[in-house]
Amino acid sequence: MPGFELFGPEEKQEVADVMESGFTFRYNFDHIRNDRWKTREMEALLCEKMNVKHAHLVSSGTAALQTAMAAAGIGAGDEVIVPPFTFVASVEAVFMAGAVPIFAEIDETLCLSPEGIEAVITPKTKAINLVHMCGSMAKMDEIRTVCAKHNLIILEDACQAIGGSYKGQALGTIGDVGCYSFDSVKTITCGEGGAVITNNEDIYNHAHMFSDHGHDHVGSDRGAEDHPIMGLNFRISEMNSAMGLAQLRKLDKIIDIQRRNKNQIKEAMSEIAEITFREIPDVEGDSAGFLTFFMPSEERTIEINKKLAENGVDGCFYWYINNWHYLANWQHIQQLKSPAALPITLIKDKPDYTKVAVPKSDAIMSRTISMLIKLSWTEADIKQRIENIKRAFA
Ligand SMILES: Cc1ncc(COP(=O)(O)O)c(C=O)c1O
Repeated sequence: MPGFELFGPEEKQEVADVMESGFTFRYNFDHIRNDRWKTREMEALLCEKMNVKHAHLVSSGTAALQTAMAAAGIGAGDEVIVPPFTFVASVEAVFMAGAVPIFAEIDETLCLSPEGIEAVITPKTKAINLVHMCGSMAKMDEIRTVCAKHNLIILEDACQAIGGSYKGQALGTIGDVGCYSFDSVKTITCGEGGAVITNNEDIYNHAHMFSDHGHDHVGSDRGAEDHPIMGLNFRISEMNSAMGLAQLRKLDKIIDIQRRNKNQIKEAMSEIAEITFREIPDVEGDSAGFLTFFMPSEERTIEINKKLAENGVDGCFYWYINNWHYLANWQHIQQLKSPAALPITLIKDKPDYTKVAVPKSDAIMSRTISMLIKLSWTEADIKQRIENIKRAFA
């Protein structure tokens, strides 16, 4: 998954180009920037590659989520359905929007399940934050049907799934608004960065303004621009966009390598009788950043995870006990710990997050191991890895 494995002269050249221009701000200042517009270039390329009308770069995936929520009109008191298995940012962003995260069950896609979503809908539900975890997708057709029936906004957190698709549509472009992350360990990286993508012009315009203090970006005099809405600074710098642009040009290659490497390992592991693989609703659209499999029991999962490490199979994650990716380990969120009073503390009938139960998700995650697929593996590395895996299972 990590695009940094393919860093090369292309990234250096793009960054050098910004240094030469002598200017790193993404907007305005036409007279001193020597016609370098790396952010605009990367946004245009994202639109082309993802076949989406609008792409807006911001400073991180977390900033993208917060921007997307504000731009889609999600705010105080709205309930937003979230999965218990995700990176914690998918939930933090809901709190920071003033909204109320409502946890729902995942299924063996490792994403929110259609039934799980439907079970927790209330009159206050405004949106779902649908996280396409570990490079692959949720059951989009069924989920779209549920959301259409209840008039819910679909926000796709595709931070871990850029390059993936569902029935030919890029993940992130199927719902109302989507988000990508380009942080240091993502499929493509620019150090820190993110994107909001959408076909909805109103959401795009609001995202553009919200992430830059409400600037309307009309005209060429920044100081004279109007401020139709309030916002914050979630801007990306030209340095980051330059690196991201070079990485985005490599995305197809990255996905090809991931798929090739994953297929080889998956094929070899198919011979191991005790494992089953994660459900992937559209196998052809898997971005293949991870190979995820289920063990028959929690005990055996713990044992195998240990044996994989002992046998030199690196990059294996037992997310169930991971501090950052599973609800059961987020005591700070369960207890609403924050240096300042969060808006949710004012809500009277808020959930008691210390008591949220997701038994179906627990049953799945306690038996799940995800293996990171690297880009730098040689044929010999893969052969060796397969031998090591077989030894761990022996
Ligand atoms: C599913 C998911 N959402 C959001 C984020 C946040 O992205 P960033 O680190 O760019 O803020 C991440 C990052 O790990 C993620 O995995």
